[in-house]
Amino acid sequence: MAQINDHFLKLKAGYLFPEIARRVNAFTEANPDAKIIKMGIGDVTEPLPEAIVSAMHGAVDEMANRDTFRGYGPEQGYDFLRNAIVENNYAGMNIDADEIFVSDGSKCDSGNILDIFGHGNKIAITDPVYPVYVDTNVMAGNTGQADESGKYGGLLYIPVTEENEFVPAVPSEPVDLIYLCFPNNPTGTVVGKNVLKKWVDYAKANDAIILFDAAYEAFVTQDDIPRSIFEIEGAHQVAIEFRSFSKNAGFTGTRCGYTVVPKTLMGTTSSGEKTSIHSLWNRRQSTKFNGVSYPIQVGAAAAFSPDGKKQIAELISFYLTNAGLLRAGLESLGMKVYGGINAPYVWLKTPGSLSSWGFFDDLLGKTNLVGTPGSGFGSAGEGYFRLSAFNSRANIEEAVERLKKFFA
Ligand code: MLT
Repeated sequence: MAQINDHFLKLKAGYLFPEIARRVNAFTEANPDAKIIKMGIGDVTEPLPEAIVSAMHGAVDEMANRDTFRGYGPEQGYDFLRNAIVENNYAGMNIDADEIFVSDGSKCDSGNILDIFGHGNKIAITDPVYPVYVDTNVMAGNTGQADESGKYGGLLYIPVTEENEFVPAVPSEPVDLIYLCFPNNPTGTVVGKNVLKKWVDYAKANDAIILFDAAYEAFVTQDDIPRSIFEIEGAHQVAIEFRSFSKNAGFTGTRCGYTVVPKTLMGTTSSGEKTSIHSLWNRRQSTKFNGVSYPIQVGAAAAFSPDGKKQIAELISFYLTNAGLLRAGLESLGMKVYGGINAPYVWLKTPGSLSSWGFFDDLLGKTNLVGTPGSGFGSAGEGYFRLSAFNSRANIEEAVERLKKFFA
């Protein structure tokens, strides 16, 4: 008798984004002429930068030649990419190339990381939050059942709402693992070093580990906003950072990211001894992962070439301009809007007393626009809605016109 992992049965409905796709598909079937504009999932729309494409072509040619062909690469990533990441993204932050683990993306890593943690940890997440952090903990058996509001027993939910300007406060009780994401998905909030320092100090005081998702760091335009937790003194003893080429270099379909695990980071065994988290993650990756393909890593490294950097800066600026257009359009309608300045997500309050899914259905039905219901990110997201700025300029301009008609 093949027993299943019963914890999967605790999961609520489908994963958020397939659920949105399901509703949109049903709507499209019923309304085949509808011109849908999708601003739900944060998926990039613009093609890969030319510098990256041409580097990938070269790498594919290398694979076609006996002298330059490569088989298995290092599970942790090729040195050329790990070195380029450190030199370009962690200069002066005391991070070594062997602390970078190249992967197929930060969604995967932020779920896989639970392999190396035990089951008795008290886990803190913000609410609303990127659903992967919650669902992977449910799958791993780290939670109880969900209650009526969708909250799982055993997790500590830290509400981030208008009242606290979407900035999570450190808990008044001890926790062991903490998920933080800045620039934030879904609210688009960024925080200064002072806020991150409080979290690092809290983690130190409680022997906790921060799982810091920095997938959207490239959208930070202000100099005083940290892009990495490792800009904060003491973070090397308490944090793991997830980064991605998805949202800056357009790799959502191409797949490449990396996780930074300092060698100074320690976890605790069940018998109370300290042990290296870096060694455990290295062991996990060497066993369960065979590395990212060579042409993709060559493409990722080209993101750090002079042309690559310039082209990526243009992409970021393009999406941030989209976010600005969405913000300005909504604000001109008297809506309360958050995010969208150092982040590709615009977060708004649903009008009147509409629930997040009520607004989703209304907007889809009347304007054929698709966004993400805030409640899909957690119960404190109820009454909010997320719009993604990842789209063509023409679609964003059209979406703003439709929003204006909708709210007129
Ligand atoms: C989102 O829309 O929140 C993102 O696309 C999710 C992801 O990157 O996995």
